[in-house]
Amino acid sequence: MTYVVNEACIKCKYMDCVEVCPVDCFYEGEVMLVINPDECIDCGVCEPECPAEAIHPDSDDSSQKWIEHNRKFAADWPNITRKGEAPADADSHKDEQGKFEKYFTPNPGKGA
Ligand code: SF4
Ligand code: F3S
Repeated sequence: MTYVVNEACIKCKYMDCVEVCPVDCFYEGEVMLVINPDECIDCGVCEPECPAEAIHPDSDDSSQKWIEHNRKFAADWPNITRKGEAPADADSHKDEQGKFEKYFTPNPGKGA
């Protein structure tokens, strides 16, 4: 069991999640964060912290297609343990549909 980050994080990237994770298992891409499923201890404290509601348990049907995505990019991107500044236009991308097709990039973030 693990929690996963889904498409709702894209372009929002509020980073409230990284502040509360007891095992620092978030990884930063240019436009979104992911969770390393092998490091997540399934505590669930990050889920209610995300203003975009982008974090869900892998047992949710909607999470299935995001599990491999989280695993793959957690291996490619740098670890992030401290909250940075969310993008200035984050609120305008909240609840937007189709963000993966429009904005996803495999580019890494800076990590912190
Ligand atoms: Fe971290 Fe717990 Fe969220 Fe897993 S469920 S990413 S361990 S805060
Ligand atoms: Fe993304 Fe939500 Fe964290 S928008 S960076 S999963 S707080």
